[in-house]
Amino acid sequence: MSETNVCDPSRIALYGDLLDFTGTPAWGAVQDPSVRYRPGHWLLIEDGRIHAVQAEPPGPEWQRHDHAGRLILPGFIDTHVHAPQLDVIASYGTELLDWLERYTFPAECRYADPGVARMGAARFLDALLAHGTTAAVVFPTVHKVSAEALFEAARERGMRLIAGKVLMDRHAPDGLRDDVTQAERDCVDLIQRFHGVERLGYAVTVRFAPTSTPEQLAMAGALCRDDATLYMQTHVAENRAEVEWVAKLFPQARSYLDVYAQVGLVHARSVMAHGIWLDDADRRLLRDTGAQIAHCPSSNLFLGSGLFDWRQAMEQGVRLSVASDVGGGTSLSIQRNLLDAYKIQALRGERLTAWTGLHAATRGAAEALSLGHEIGSFDAGCAADVCVWDWTSCAVSEARDAVARELHERVFAWMCLSDSRNLAAAYVAGMPRAR
Ligand code: GUN
Ligand code: ZN
Repeated sequence: MSETNVCDPSRIALYGDLLDFTGTPAWGAVQDPSVRYRPGHWLLIEDGRIHAVQAEPPGPEWQRHDHAGRLILPGFIDTHVHAPQLDVIASYGTELLDWLERYTFPAECRYADPGVARMGAARFLDALLAHGTTAAVVFPTVHKVSAEALFEAARERGMRLIAGKVLMDRHAPDGLRDDVTQAERDCVDLIQRFHGVERLGYAVTVRFAPTSTPEQLAMAGALCRDDATLYMQTHVAENRAEVEWVAKLFPQARSYLDVYAQVGLVHARSVMAHGIWLDDADRRLLRDTGAQIAHCPSSNLFLGSGLFDWRQAMEQGVRLSVASDVGGGTSLSIQRNLLDAYKIQALRGERLTAWTGLHAATRGAAEALSLGHEIGSFDAGCAADVCVWDWTSCAVSEARDAVARELHERVFAWMCLSDSRNLAAAYVAGMPRAR
C-alpha cells in the first residue's frame, strides 16, 4: 500500500489518522481535551525522529507511506513483561506461587544456555514488535547471559528497552539462584556495558521480596543509591498468599512495599508490577517518591490475583502504566490487556475509557518512566516509534466500526476488538520493523 518515491531515505512521511495524547485524560471522560486526534494528517519523520505533523502533503524530498484510512498511534510501551515466559504462557490451573514453581522456574532454568537465551531474546522482541509494542521494561532470568542476549537483540532492532539481570538468591531451585557477591559483580558489569548505551537502560531487577535475602535487597538498594539514573523493577502485592508470605519473612516491615522502601528501592525510576493489595500509606509512598505501578490486567485475571483499583490509584496520585506480564498474562497484545482492564473495572462497578487505557500504554507510561521526551507521543523531537493499525480485521469489527458515531465509540470498539492481526506496520526510530 505504500507509495514510495525516489527521495531522501532519512525523510519519511506517514499519512493516516493520527491519535495521541497531550496530557492525562480524566477518569471516565469520553470527551477529553488531552485527546489529540488528527485524521488524514501527515506525520513527518526525519533521521528517526518526529519532525512535525501537518495536514498539507509534504514536498517531493519526503518518502511517502500512504496509510489512508488507518489508525496511527505511538508504539505501545509494555512496562512489565518476562522474555523467557513465552514458553509458559497459558499454563493451566494455578495461582501465583504454585505457577512459579510448577511452570515458570523450570522454564527459566533453560536460559542458562547462551543459545537458548539468544534465540529466546530474538523471538521475544520480534513478538513484541508484531503486537505493536516498540518499547518495554523486561525481566530476563537470573542468568547474566539472558540479560546480555536481551540487550543485544534490542540494540539490533533499535528498540528502547529497560532490563536487568534478575536477582534471586533464595526460595528458588538449583540453577536459578545467584549469590550477593557474584550478582553485584554481574550487575556492575552489565550497567557499565549497557546502561545509557543507545536506547538501553538498566533496571536493578529484584524478582520479588521472597526470592531475595535481606543482604541481597540491601545490595540492590545500594546500586540504586549509587546511580540515580538506574531503573528498578520488581513485583509487589500481587497475590494474597504472597503478601502473607512476605509478612512472615519480613516481620519488621510495615507492609510488603515497605520491605523495598527500607532498603532504598522505591524511587522515581521504580516500576512496581501489580500493586493490587496495597493500602493508603503504600499509595502515598508511591505518589511521594514517583514510583509507578505497572498494572497487569490479563495476568491478574488469569492467575486469579485480584481486581486492581485503577481509579483509586489515579485519584491518590500514583503514576500508572499498563503491562502484559506475559507469561502470567495471556497476551502480548496491549489491546487485549486493555480489554481485560476494562472488564476488571466493570467488576468493580467502574468504567475504563479508551482514553485512559491508551494513554497508560503510551504517553502515561513514557512519563512514568521519565521518558516523555523520547517515546509515547507524536511531539516533535520524540523518537519515531510509531504503529499503523487497521481499524478492522474481520466482518464483526467491520460491522461494528461502520456504525460507530463518535470518536470514543469508534476507538473503544477498536480497543476491544483489535489485536496483532490489525497491525499494518511498526516503525522503530523511523525504521520499518514489522509487517
Ligand atoms: N512474582 C515473582 N515472580 C513473578 C513472575 O514471574 N510473574 C508474576 N506474575 N509474578 C511474579
Ligand atoms: Zn511479572
